[in-house]
Formats: sequence, C-alpha cells, structure tokens
Amino acid sequence: MQERLQARPRAGSRRVGSRLKALLQGNSAMQVDAVWTNLHLATLDTPSGYGEIEDAAIAVRDGRITWLGPRARLPQNLQSAVSHDGGGGWLTPGLIDCHTHLVWAGSRADEFERRLQGASYAEIAAAGGGILSTVRATRAADEQALYEQSLRRLHALSAQGVTSVEIKSGYGLELHAERRCLRVARRLGSEQRVHVTTTFLGAHTLPPEYAGRADDYIDALATTLLPALHAEHLVDAVDGYCEPIAFTPAQLRRLFDAARMLGLPVKLHAEQLSDGGGAQLAASVAALSADHLEYVSDAGLAAMAGAGTVAVLLPGAYYALRETRAPPVAAMRRLGVPMAVATDCNPGTSPCASPLLMLNMACTLFGLAPDEALAGMTRHAARALGLHADRGRLAIGLRADFALWDVAHPRELAYWIGGRSCVGRVVDGVPVEAT
Ligand code: NIG
Ligand code: FE
Repeated sequence: MQERLQARPRAGSRRVGSRLKALLQGNSAMQVDAVWTNLHLATLDTPSGYGEIEDAAIAVRDGRITWLGPRARLPQNLQSAVSHDGGGGWLTPGLIDCHTHLVWAGSRADEFERRLQGASYAEIAAAGGGILSTVRATRAADEQALYEQSLRRLHALSAQGVTSVEIKSGYGLELHAERRCLRVARRLGSEQRVHVTTTFLGAHTLPPEYAGRADDYIDALATTLLPALHAEHLVDAVDGYCEPIAFTPAQLRRLFDAARMLGLPVKLHAEQLSDGGGAQLAASVAALSADHLEYVSDAGLAAMAGAGTVAVLLPGAYYALRETRAPPVAAMRRLGVPMAVATDCNPGTSPCASPLLMLNMACTLFGLAPDEALAGMTRHAARALGLHADRGRLAIGLRADFALWDVAHPRELAYWIGGRSCVGRVVDGVPVEAT
C-alpha cells in the first residue's frame, strides 16, 4: 500500500506516447506536465469542511494547478507528460507551518527538568536562562553547525507533509548572529525541497549587552539591524515578543514603524503569558497575525477581527508550559477571526517538530474541529504569512504544493496522536523523495 501510494512517474514509453499524441492533435490538446489520479482531494477551498472531491484527478503545469475535479470529468483532450497514481489516498494542500523558531543551537532539556520541579518559565528567564541560554549556544555555533542541527528538524517537519515553513530569527540578538540564523534559514529553503519564509525576531528578548536599556535596543533594531538585514534580502517579515518579560507595545510599535517604512509585513507574539494589549497593537498596524493569545481580551479579539489579523494557535507551547487557560476559540469563531495552527518549534516552550501532533492537540486542548485544525495548517496558515493567493488550498492557479496521505478520510490527520500517514509530498508540481 505504502509503496503504491508513492507519487512517481509511470513508464517512459507512456510519456513519449502522450507527447506524440498531443503533437498530432495540435492546439486542441490541453497539455499539462503531470496528472494525479486514483485519489481523493481535500481542497480546503471552502469556507468550512474539507472541500472533499472523491475519486478525483488533479493536473499541474509550470508548478501550478491547472485542473482539478472528479476523475470522470477529466477533460478528454488533457495530455499529460507524466501520470501519477495516488494509490487511493487523500491529497491535501501541503502543510504550512507558519510559526517556527527552527534555527537554534543547543538544548534546554535542563530547564524542562526545572520546570517539572516547579520553576516557572518567567522565573527561569529572569534568572538568565530561557531564551538567553539558547542565545549563548546559538552565538557560539558556526553557520554549518547551525545548518545541520536545523536541517534535522526541517526533515521532521517535511516527513509529516510540510511544504512551506516560516522560520524566525531571535536567538542571535546582535547583527552577526541574527544574520547567521537568517542565512541558515535561506539556505534551508534553497537546498531543501520546502519553501522557507524568514521573519526577523530581533525583539525576542533583551540581550545582556543592553540590560536596562530596552529602548536603546529597540532603536538599534529599528535603525541598524533591520535595515541591514533587509538590504541583504534576509527578511520577509518582522515579529516581536510583547510581554512584561520582553517588550512593551510602545517599544514594538517603533520597530513596526521601521518595518512598514521598509515595506515589510509584521506579526506579533501576543498575550501568551498575560494580557498586555498586544492584540490591539497587532490590529492597529494591520499585522498578518497575532500568535499564542491565551490571555487575549475581548477588545483585543474584536480589533483583530476588524483588521483581518489571523490568530495563530500554538498548542505545543500551551502544553509544554502546562498552561491552563486556552485561547478563546469560541469567541474567535464568533468574530470570524481566522485560526491558524503551527508547531512553534523552539527549544524552550515547544520542542516539537510534529505538525500532525499539533493538529491533534489543537482539537483536544483547544476544541478545534478536525477540519478547522487542518484549515489552520493550510488555508489560514497561508494567510498568516500573506501567501493566501498562492498557497494553502487546492484551486486552479495556485502553486502545486501537495501532501499525499494514506488515510481513509482527512479527519484522520487530527485523530492520530502524531502519526506517519504522509506518503508523499509534491513541491511546485514535482514529487519529492522521502528524506
Ligand atoms: O513562541 N514566546 C517567545 N518565543 C517562543 C519561546 C522561545 C524560547 O523559549 O526559546 C515561543 O513560545
Ligand atoms: Fe514563538
């Protein structure tokens, strides 16, 4: 079954035959690069549900979807260079992990033990641990070491169907180390078969060199680090950590002003540990997303709804911190705030590289329905990155990024606690060998 499900070209003779036939038929043929049949589609291209099309076909050309629908309606004149057999599985948009801190060095397993003994995340951070302990390890690591450690985590994500991933900096906190992390993220995107978007998170926490001078650090980010890294084409978006243990809304607004001057979209870690008005800040600058949101107020959510800011839910961090207050999912639904779901893959609060586990936890811990969770890692995740016109759904014209699953129904993706049901990925219309 597994073997049959692997998307792969059929015999070469068939390829030549179909090309010849297309030539003989002249312009009337609808020529595509590849077609997949013997599968079902979950298009996620409907306001709710999976957008199911059973016994379907999907065709791609130049890396984009050119046709999809029931196989019985496949155009008679469609000529494909390659045919793939989906083995009876389900094809979804490739998963989009829209919030990760994938590039870091070292481990924080010792802090995990301390938290189990009663220390809080904020206490550990105040004592110089937390994010700063990863900053020390990351600053000490060279680019190759960082690449290799991060690659293992990327492989874990892609093995579970991820075709696009957002990677934040934020463990360098000075120009050279932030550059190194962003360069590693770019290199992952160019050397691996996965799309990478980068987010500058210099405002993750205050580095020791700036102790007691948070405003000066924000100024340095806004006037020196961000413009320099942007000029090197290393930054696709800007993020900040809005929390008493990190930065205030007023400080982050200054950074966001600088981002907007450079034409960069912004995102925000907001209301993870307390309500500090981050959601209102995010909405007021038309942020793509506000992320975490366990402590968001009604006013904050209403502002997000008005601005079209996506709520990115991060059940891994909620779980790892043994948080008891869940984000207000019912209110998000009621207000029409789109909910994305992501791994938050990071060494402190979400040492997790399993997007499928996050789908499950979004349901069991936060009360999402399985179709909402899957939309959260496809359609809404694309919106959280500003990429919704291009990815996150199966629809004509969108990028041909797919994940193929050995499941009887797409609800199984959230049902399994983790799981190994991804049997193939397609990136830009081309099947990817498993890593
Ligand atoms: O998303 N909240 C801040 N950033 C991360 C934690 C990073 C860390 O602890 O290393 C988060 O939870
Ligand atoms: Fe995060």
